[in-house]
Amino acid sequence: MAIVLRSLHFLILLSVLCISASIPFALAQDENEFIYNGFLEAEDLRLDGAAAIDHTNGLLQLTNNLSPQQVGRAFNHFPIKFDTPSSLSFSTNFVFAIVPHLQNLGGHGIAFAISPSTNFTGRGLPNGYLGLFNDSNDGLSINRILAIELDTVPDPEFGDITSNHVGIDVNGMKSNELAPAMYFSNKEGKNISLDLLSGNPMHLWIDYDEAEKLLNVTLAPTRIPKPNRPLLSTSIDLSQILKESMYVGFSSATGTIGSDHYILGWSFNKSGPSQSLDVSSLPPLPERRKEKPSLVIITSLIAVAIVLITLAGAVAYILRRKKYEELLEDWEEEYGPHRFSYKNLHKATKGFKDTELLGEGGFGKVYIGILASSNVQIAVKRISHDSKQGMKEFVAEIVSMGRLRHRNLVQLLGYCRRRGELLLVYDYMPNGSLDRFLYSNENPNLSWVQRFRIIKGVASGLLYLHEEWEQVVLHRDVKASNVLLDAGLNGRLGDFGLAKLYDHGTNPQTTRVVGTVGYLAPEITRTGRATTCSDVFAFGVFLLEVACGRKPIEGLRLPERVILVDWVTECCRRGAILDTSDPRLEGNYVVDEMELVLKLGLLCSLAMPAARPSMRQVVQFLDGDADLQELPHDSPIFGTFTTNESSDSMSFLSHASTRSMSTTNSILRVGR
Ligand SMILES: *[C@@H]1O[C@H](CO)[C@@H](O)[C@H](O)[C@H]1NC(C)=O
Repeated sequence: MAIVLRSLHFLILLSVLCISASIPFALAQDENEFIYNGFLEAEDLRLDGAAAIDHTNGLLQLTNNLSPQQVGRAFNHFPIKFDTPSSLSFSTNFVFAIVPHLQNLGGHGIAFAISPSTNFTGRGLPNGYLGLFNDSNDGLSINRILAIELDTVPDPEFGDITSNHVGIDVNGMKSNELAPAMYFSNKEGKNISLDLLSGNPMHLWIDYDEAEKLLNVTLAPTRIPKPNRPLLSTSIDLSQILKESMYVGFSSATGTIGSDHYILGWSFNKSGPSQSLDVSSLPPLPERRKEKPSLVIITSLIAVAIVLITLAGAVAYILRRKKYEELLEDWEEEYGPHRFSYKNLHKATKGFKDTELLGEGGFGKVYIGILASSNVQIAVKRISHDSKQGMKEFVAEIVSMGRLRHRNLVQLLGYCRRRGELLLVYDYMPNGSLDRFLYSNENPNLSWVQRFRIIKGVASGLLYLHEEWEQVVLHRDVKASNVLLDAGLNGRLGDFGLAKLYDHGTNPQTTRVVGTVGYLAPEITRTGRATTCSDVFAFGVFLLEVACGRKPIEGLRLPERVILVDWVTECCRRGAILDTSDPRLEGNYVVDEMELVLKLGLLCSLAMPAARPSMRQVVQFLDGDADLQELPHDSPIFGTFTTNESSDSMSFLSHASTRSMSTTNSILRVGR
C-alpha cells in the first residue's frame, strides 16, 4: 500500500514537473504575459508588410533586401487590457538584430510599439516613420501610440542627434527623450557604446512603472545580463495613451538603403517583470557574407598587384630604355673610349634643356653640359642625321679626328649615335664664337693684338689639319662663327670635318654646296670638290672679316661695299686699303700687321686656286718669316703687282691676273 501510494505520489510529482517545465516552451500564454524564445510556433503573431517568420528556425524577419522602402510589422494577436483602474505598468524585453545591406550603412530601424490598432494601412509610411506614422498624422495625440525606436538614421526633422540611437516616441517620431546606443557595464562601472548596425543580436528591456510614472529603457549585448542602469529613464504619464485594449508589437521600415531587421525572441508581461529570454536557445541569424575578404581574394589581389607592379616596372624600364636608346653596332666596338652613352649626355645637358642651349649652327644645336663623372664642361652638338649610309666611314673619321690634337682646334672628345641623331662631344669653349665678338655689341670689342693672335692661331690650326697630321683633313667651313674662343681668348677652329657628313649625300636638306656663301671658293661651284685651296680661300675671307670687322656680304651697304673682297680689292687698288679696317678699332692697330692681314686676305681669296698660297706659306707670312710683296696699286686686276717678284714662294702670284671679278661676284652672290 505504501509502495502504491509512494509511486502514485511520484507519478503526480513527475507530471507536475513535466507541465511546469513545458510552460516556457509551450507558448501557452495568458493574455497579459507571453514569451517567445524564437517564433517557431507563434500563431499568435499578426504579420504585416514584409514581415515573415523563418519556419525552419523561428527567426522573425521584419524587413528584407528584396526591395527598398519596406515596412514590416509583427503585433501580438490579442490586445492587452490597459483598463483603469488596473495598473498601466508593463514590462517587456526582446532580442533584435539589424544587419545593414551595405557595410555600416543601413536604414531605418525598428520600433517597439503599443498601439490601439494593428491596421496601419494608409497611415504608416516607411523611412523615418518606421511604418507607424505619416507626414500628416505625425505628432497628433489622436494616434495614442507609444514607440521605443531603435533608429539607425539621423532625421534632423525629428531632432535625431545621431544615427545609432534609442528614443522614446509618443504619438510621433519626434522623440521625448533619446540617447546614442550604449549600455552600462556593471563590471566596468561605465557606459560602453554599441553599434546598432553591427549585425549582432542585442537585448532591449522596456519597463514602465505606473506608480512612479517612470519609463526605463535598457540596452545591452546579448552576452551579458540586464545592466543595473537603464539607457533612458524618463518620467512620463502614459494614462492618455494606454487605454482599454492595446496591441503590442514591432514595426520596422527601410529606406532607399535598408537593413534586415530581425527579432529573435520576445517576452512581455502586463503584471510584473517580464520573463528573461533564454538567449542560448534563440534562433541563429542567417550566416552573413563575410566582410573580411577570403584568403582566395587576398591571394588573387596580391597576385594582381604583383602583376601590375611588374608591368609598371617593365613599362618604366622600356620607356627608360627608349629614352636613352642608342644605336650601337659591332663596328663601333673599337671606338669604345670615344663613345659616350646617351644617358650620360642626357644627364650632362639636363635633358637637352633649352636653358642649356649654347647656339644653333648649320649642323645642329649645341648644348652645354657637365659630365657627372668628371665634372668636366663639355659642348654637345646634336646633329639630326637620318641615314645610316656612310655613317660607318663618317664615324671612323670623326673618331680619328678625335685623335687630332692642336691648341687651335676645338678638341673632339667623342660621339654618340641614336636613331636619326648623331651627338658630338667637344671641349667647352667658355667665350663662344668669334663672330659674336665681331658683330654683336654684347661682347667687348677685341683689340688688334687679340685679333692678330686669333688669326695666327686659326692659321696654325688649319695648317695642322692640312699638312701636319698623318692625313689631310679639310675643314670646308672656315668662317668667323666656326672659330671659338677659349678662356684665354685664343682662337680655336671648330666643326672641322663635319661638312663631310653631308658629302655622303645623307642630309636631304642640303642639296646646296657644302660651306657657307661668301666663303665659297669659285671652283667649288664648278667642280663640287673641296681642296686645301678652297679652305685657303675661305680663310682669306675670314682674314678680311676679322680685319674689317664685317661680314663677307652685307646687303645694306653701299653697292660697291656689299661684297667685302671686292671692296677691299678696290681700296687696295686705290692705295687706301687701311680705309677698310674695322672702325671699332679706332685706328689702334699695327699698320704693318693690318696691311699684311688685308693683303693676305686678298691673296688667299684669289679666284684661281693655284694662285692662293698654301697654309704653310700663310703661316710664314703671318709670322714674318716670309715677306708678302706690296700689292701694286695701279694694276687693274692685280695682274702686274707680282711681276718683279723674285721669291719662289711668290711665283704663283703671276697667275693672279686670271682673277676674274665677275666670276667672284657671281659666286659670292650664289644663294642670296
Ligand atoms: C495619414 O494618416 C491618416 C490617418 O492617421 C490619414 O487619414 C491620412 O490620409 C494619411 N495621410 C497621408 C498623406 O497618407
